[in-house]
Amino acid sequence: MFLRRTTILTAQLLRRLLTTTTTTTTTNPISPVNQDHLLSVCTILFQQQNSPESRLHSKLTSTEFQLTHEFFLQVCNTFPYSWRPVYLFFLYTQKTNPTFTHTTVSFNKMLDVIGRSKNIDLFWNVLQDMSRRRVANDKTLLIALRTLGGARELKKCVELFHLMSSNGFEYNVGTLNKVVEAMCEWKLVEEAKYLVLKLREWVRPNEVTYKHLIRGYCDKGNLIEASKIWNLMADEGFKPDIDAVEKMMEIFFKRNEYGEALKLFHTMRFKRMDELGLSTYRLAIKWLCKKGMMSEAQEAYEEMHTRGIQIDNLTLGSVVYGLLTKRRVNEAYKIVNGIDVPDLSVYHGLIKGLLKLRRASEATEVFREMIRRGCEPIMHTYVMLLQGHLGRRGRKGSDPLINFDTIFVGGLVTAGKSKEATKYVERVMNRGLEVPRFDYNKFLHYFSNEEGVFMFEEVGKKLREVGLVDLADILERYGQKMATRDRRRERPPVTEDTNDL
Ligand SMILES: *[C@@H]1O[C@H](CO)[C@@H](O)[C@H](O)[C@H]1NC(C)=O
Repeated sequence: MFLRRTTILTAQLLRRLLTTTTTTTTTNPISPVNQDHLLSVCTILFQQQNSPESRLHSKLTSTEFQLTHEFFLQVCNTFPYSWRPVYLFFLYTQKTNPTFTHTTVSFNKMLDVIGRSKNIDLFWNVLQDMSRRRVANDKTLLIALRTLGGARELKKCVELFHLMSSNGFEYNVGTLNKVVEAMCEWKLVEEAKYLVLKLREWVRPNEVTYKHLIRGYCDKGNLIEASKIWNLMADEGFKPDIDAVEKMMEIFFKRNEYGEALKLFHTMRFKRMDELGLSTYRLAIKWLCKKGMMSEAQEAYEEMHTRGIQIDNLTLGSVVYGLLTKRRVNEAYKIVNGIDVPDLSVYHGLIKGLLKLRRASEATEVFREMIRRGCEPIMHTYVMLLQGHLGRRGRKGSDPLINFDTIFVGGLVTAGKSKEATKYVERVMNRGLEVPRFDYNKFLHYFSNEEGVFMFEEVGKKLREVGLVDLADILERYGQKMATRDRRRERPPVTEDTNDL
């Protein structure tokens, strides 16, 4: 990246680059690379990359360095996005050093650089060379498909398999599944499907291949294509893998097509009960509870119980939330009280449900309880509670006592910190009028520092004075627990249900 953007590379810059690459490689005890030699060679490669070959080679020849495998790899590391210096060096090693043999590792490394710098013609040539030399392996295939797929070189993706197999590389459905899985992860699901269809004469896809494609399309939100693959798989007589079933159920639920999702769930229950485990129940129960379909959720829940499947915290959290949305408060509490050690997801279900019933104060009581029981709130807990108390807009109302912005600014001014208050106004209120919602997440992140520790303490005092004890407790705790640098680093990521309170 760095090198691509730079046209003039000074030795100083190179040295900086090199020191960053060495930190990862100095641990290798086998062949320590002389960093001064590496620097000289890389400087020549960079400065002479457009010179005639003879000149470049004579410069390199007159420079002292020891060509080792590791040395070559480090040259590649120095130019991760520039094919030219790397490839020129490769040519040099071929020409002047017949005793030095490249390996699959060094070839793959170079191939990766060429792919990243998007020189497709050279990339293809090197691939052919590697195939002929029989150094291509599974990793080569993955590098090649990421590059060629990303460049929409679909025909070449297919050709590659033929090229490699005509040079003795044997592939089977396992190989195919590995590359299809990787391609779907890189969001190259279209390309992966093309490959599967074009190769089917040579390698027959199986239920795992289809599972990856279904997952790939579901992850892209493409229900139509996912369904097509699903049908194709059924036509070929494959039983859908349980992961594929869950993916399809999930995308149906997400699109609010509950009927379709439940149809799949019930088919599994009637036809393949023995394969039905916790994860599928959890998925179904989560979405049923989300929609308040509590009798269906209950049925699934009881079935799990009958079948001896241990229900987990996540599922319990969903049930608690679902019951609360139906105002079945006592039942929800009964479940929570029946759990020996509730975890974060149970407490979140409870808090989220109570907030939905506009019982912010009760939700804050749960917050205190979870702390007492050693379950530390995370960012998401705070965001939910602040939203519950102050509304999504952060109470930009006219009453200054409960106006979110004046609470903070007012708190600081009262504390004799006008300067900080001004800073706060600049940093937070300057978000402009066009932002309709107060972004609690951003707000808490802004103040997750030493400044925040102090700010939340002062604001907490102020809030307590005016009787807003719940808010005071929430923010003070945040200040104490989340705002120091170390804790911030440990802070778990915001959980997925942040958005749908
Ligand atoms: C819920 O989570 C807690 C804390 O991680 C754990 O000790 C407990 O066993 C879990 N309960 C269930 C039912 O999985």
